[in-house]
Amino acid sequence: MDYKSYIAEKLNIEGATKEEITSLIVTPPDNSMGDYALPCFKFAKILRKPPVAIATELKNSFEIDDVIVKVTAVNGYLNFTVNRQGKASAVLKEILLKGEEYGSSTLGNGKTVCIDYSSINVAKPFHIGHLSTTVIGGALYKIYKKLGYNVVGINHLGDYGTQFGKLIYAYKEWGDREAVEKGRVKELMRLYVKYHDEAEKNPSMDDKAREYFKLIEQGDKECNELFKWFKELTLLDVDKVYKQLGITFDSYNGESFFNDKMGVVIDELQQSGLLVESEGAKIVNLEEYGMPPCLILRSDGASLYATRDLAAAYYRKKEYDFDKCLYVVAYQQNLHFKQFFKVLELLGKPWAKDMVHVAFGMVSLEDGTMSTRKGKVVFLEDVINKCCEKALSVINEKNPDLENKEETANAVGVGAVIFGALSSSRIKDIVFSYDKVLNFDGETGPYCQYTYARALSVLRKGGEIGLYDDNYALNDDEYNLLSLLAEYPEIIKQSAEKYEPSMITRYAVDVSEAFNKFYFDCKILGEEEGVKNFRLALTFATKTVIKNALSLLGIKAPEKM
Ligand code: ARG
Repeated sequence: MDYKSYIAEKLNIEGATKEEITSLIVTPPDNSMGDYALPCFKFAKILRKPPVAIATELKNSFEIDDVIVKVTAVNGYLNFTVNRQGKASAVLKEILLKGEEYGSSTLGNGKTVCIDYSSINVAKPFHIGHLSTTVIGGALYKIYKKLGYNVVGINHLGDYGTQFGKLIYAYKEWGDREAVEKGRVKELMRLYVKYHDEAEKNPSMDDKAREYFKLIEQGDKECNELFKWFKELTLLDVDKVYKQLGITFDSYNGESFFNDKMGVVIDELQQSGLLVESEGAKIVNLEEYGMPPCLILRSDGASLYATRDLAAAYYRKKEYDFDKCLYVVAYQQNLHFKQFFKVLELLGKPWAKDMVHVAFGMVSLEDGTMSTRKGKVVFLEDVINKCCEKALSVINEKNPDLENKEETANAVGVGAVIFGALSSSRIKDIVFSYDKVLNFDGETGPYCQYTYARALSVLRKGGEIGLYDDNYALNDDEYNLLSLLAEYPEIIKQSAEKYEPSMITRYAVDVSEAFNKFYFDCKILGEEEGVKNFRLALTFATKTVIKNALSLLGIKAPEKM
């Protein structure tokens, strides 16, 4: 039941559509005056009357019914009180009936969304800087699925460039198969760093490295086998982390996959006259749009990052026929995406408008940012493990007899990391703090998990939930909690529309806070049957929604903590 449109439907305001009225209706934070309010000063101009008069007139003509049971006009506001019992029955019934499916919709049926996320670089560390793209993309993946979309998760691997020639050089020169098998990315990085140290003294090495890279491109067997192996080793390393974070992909087609697929793009650019020569290179001039040129081919004929992204976009459109193609990539690449989308538009692709750069801010650790160059890398795996260890020590201290301690600690540690990364709107830079994300009393994953476990414990003690009193008059704590639960489907939709998983973390915290307030203010188990059962049903609905919301973020909800 959508109360705002229900109210708007019943109001007749000259010159304002139902949608306009709906969008103006608010839910006041303090509901002592009513559960919904319409500020009437917005209509003063069209109706040429003072807001107070408008509110009074609207009040007099509004017919109350068994949904909206009271209307008042106060200081130019129209306040509506809903039939709380009616709302409660409807909402509880829906949640109990749908369970895990509560919040799903068919909105996206028949539509496809591609999400390019995580998109790691081969033979490079999977570090804390990749946290946001991985968990924002992972959450959007689950959110869109929940809304009925066909979702294609793509890990656009960074597996192209002369660095792979360098790596082959280094491996052939100083590498050892066993050591690489064992050390994986860490060993490959060691070789890469060694290459750079040596190449400083002996620059001719770079020519050889470039040659190796060319050999990869030309399909040389040995070089390709090595290259493939480096890729496999990298994926073995990151898969561990993906598993912990509950992240999956449908495609690992990375940059090198498009090696032989750039021809169409280049031909079309040429035919449309967009491709121009500049200092030997081929570019698309974007001066008119206030941007530097988009580089398509270097003077030696090599393609660039943008060329491969253009080819990948063509491929995705053809292969998946997406309605939207999202790129979850840091804001440092704003210009790249603006240029690349502009080029698609200039190429006359009507679907250029469906390309979205889902940008996000930087993550740094409290003790300063990480830097790959200086080898001061913070591996994501280490961050997650450290959170799990810290969670285990909290559990050991607070609840030493808990069964499955390790498993629970892992769920809490991982939950803390994911929730922490998704806690503020994505564009904000974040400073990652272990203490902050693991604070059981803060606005954190562990706090929501703890609330979930608390609700389950109430339900265990309460036993079977019997019939509750349909005429039970909800108090404010109960009503606030219930209203939040009712908003869940809408929150999912909005978070998809805005590409903002932080709306789900915010929501999970709000529900948890409302539940805890209800839990501390209202007795549940000692009450008479009708009341007790209502409160147990509300508790059941709450735990269902918390678990559901956490699962959209890839966070598990342990039964006991
Ligand atoms: N591998 C790139 C990086 O680490 C991100 C790739 C993003 N996806 C894309 N299609 N450009 O910066």
